[in-house]
Amino acid sequence: MHFSASDKHDITHIWEKVAGNVERLGGEAMDRLFTCHPATKTYFSHLNVSHGSSDVKSQGAKVLKAIGQASKNIDHLHEALSDLSDLHAQSLKVDPGNFHLLCQSILVVLAIHFPKDFTPHAHAAWDKFLAAISEVLYFKYR
Ligand code: HEM
Repeated sequence: MHFSASDKHDITHIWEKVAGNVERLGGEAMDRLFTCHPATKTYFSHLNVSHGSSDVKSQGAKVLKAIGQASKNIDHLHEALSDLSDLHAQSLKVDPGNFHLLCQSILVVLAIHFPKDFTPHAHAAWDKFLAAISEVLYFKYR
């Protein structure tokens, strides 16, 4: 997937705003995932997935930190996310259909918190970026 200079700009610009607040924003994204798509909770049966729990926040923070790392390695996502790909595709066996649900939740959180920055172009860039990350994470799924 190709990212233009302006895609990269929009991705980095919004990531810099997210970076200091990963627990809150990540927690909100996970919360939306679990509320809108309750079946996704089955993957997290060993965690407390109730609204606002510390597990939800900590899981959300992990997800967003990984996305931040990916933003710094956007032209070589396969190498950068190789371990996470093994984890999701081979160990956890997360069904690929779940990824776009989480991506949607993340986009909604970005739109709510950064309405001025989340222009249509930034929306498209982030959508493409999250889809590229997802593709890497389920690439080894079988
Ligand atoms: C764990 C990132 C999508 C299920 C993790 C971890 C990260 C991560 C960084 C922690 C890994 C570690 O501790 O070494 C991401 C990213 C995603 C994504 C960037 C997509 C943008 C999903 C989806 C599901 C899922 C869609 C299922 C609905 C899990 C589970 C764990 C996990 C079950 C293990 C939780 C635990 O036992 O603590 N993910 N993830 N992930 N992820 Fe994902």
